[in-house]
Amino acid sequence: MLSERAASFAEKYRVLEPVPDTRVFGRDPSNPYYDLLYWVANDFKPSLTVELGTCTGGSTSNLAAGSENQVISIDVDIRPGARERLAIFPNIELIHGDTRDPTLAANVAQCGPIDLLFIDTDHVAEQVKAEMSLYGSLVRPGGLILLDDIRMHPCMSGWWDELDEDKLELPDLHWTSFGAVFS
Ligand SMILES: C[S@@+](CC[C@H](N)C(=O)[O-])C[C@H]1O[C@@H](n2cnc3c(N)ncnc32)[C@H](O)[C@@H]1O
Repeated sequence: MLSERAASFAEKYRVLEPVPDTRVFGRDPSNPYYDLLYWVANDFKPSLTVELGTCTGGSTSNLAAGSENQVISIDVDIRPGARERLAIFPNIELIHGDTRDPTLAANVAQCGPIDLLFIDTDHVAEQVKAEMSLYGSLVRPGGLILLDDIRMHPCMSGWWDELDEDKLELPDLHWTSFGAVFS
């Protein structure tokens, strides 16, 4: 049984309009979760967005295009060219670091409560548990956590099924599924 907030989120984002901002890149039409990131940021107007897992920067570009406010994106291995491509967004701060590092999380906490958190690193239970503990705990009440690839690995899938939070699964956004947690 979905909560009212989860049901209304599911209805609002059932159909995703094309992203009108031409600065975004990397969209895969068969896995359209980038569109959700853009529209959620656009509607939600987060003061602080944090992304765990920059990679080539496509998801980061959508989060940053959707919101004019600060977007922090963290990765241990920001791919070549990502910094250059993302430089057109003045609101992005890229951090080279490990999301399991408590000192880094404490530094991010200094930027204020997180309104929108996107978790997309190693999709195993141990990792997501650490990230939910270090960064999920920084999300303000009323904030939102989005997670990619919740069914990529059986241990991740098990973690998601057992997660006792107000949550919603959006299986059409990625073949490995996608989740939203409402704090
Ligand atoms: C699936 S990719 C991110 C994709 C990106 N969010 C997108 O949608 O385009 C996962 C990324 O997580 C990073 N990663 C894995 N473990 C990490 C960790 N412990 N700390 C920081 N980054 C990590 C990897 O280097 C990789 O770039």
